[in-house]
Amino acid sequence: MKKIGLTLFAALVTLTFAASSSFAGDAGKGMKYAAKKCAMCHSFGAKIKKKGKIGPSLEAGIVGKKAGQVAKFKYSKPMKKAIKNGLVWDEANLNTFLKNPKKFMKGTKMAFPGVKKDKDLADVMAFLKSL
Ligand code: HEC
Repeated sequence: MKKIGLTLFAALVTLTFAASSSFAGDAGKGMKYAAKKCAMCHSFGAKIKKKGKIGPSLEAGIVGKKAGQVAKFKYSKPMKKAIKNGLVWDEANLNTFLKNPKKFMKGTKMAFPGVKKDKDLADVMAFLKSL
């Protein structure tokens, strides 16, 4: 009986560990991902050399902020509407947007198919939080 208890305990610890490690993103990996997939359009400040100008700069950080705050950037019509309606890039909205931009916002100018792997998404989120 004691042995079963121990085995169960070990299994639980392993499960808990596996679950937490698959959801907590790695900012370093996220930065690499962003350098490859986002930086041709966005700039991220000193951390990534490549500085895209097609999209709004994300240098000042974006997680938890109001959408559409980059002055002089010409946002698309649906984005302008969302801004007017008070869209905030909290983690839930950002996750859904980045997973499939066109599904989250029909007609957005962000021509990016989306971050398909949950693991990459968690890493990118950790990186965006570090800005
Ligand atoms: C092909 C260019 C392109 C790529 C690649 C791209 N974006 Fe964008 N992004 C844009 C454009 C253009 C907009 C403005 C959208 C609009 O006005 O509809 C935008 C908007 C955004 C916004 C909203 C910003 C704001 O000011 O409210 C976020 C956040 C964002 N992108 C993050 C990302 C991340 C993270 C990646 C990589 C996983 C990425 N983008 C990849 C072009 C791109």
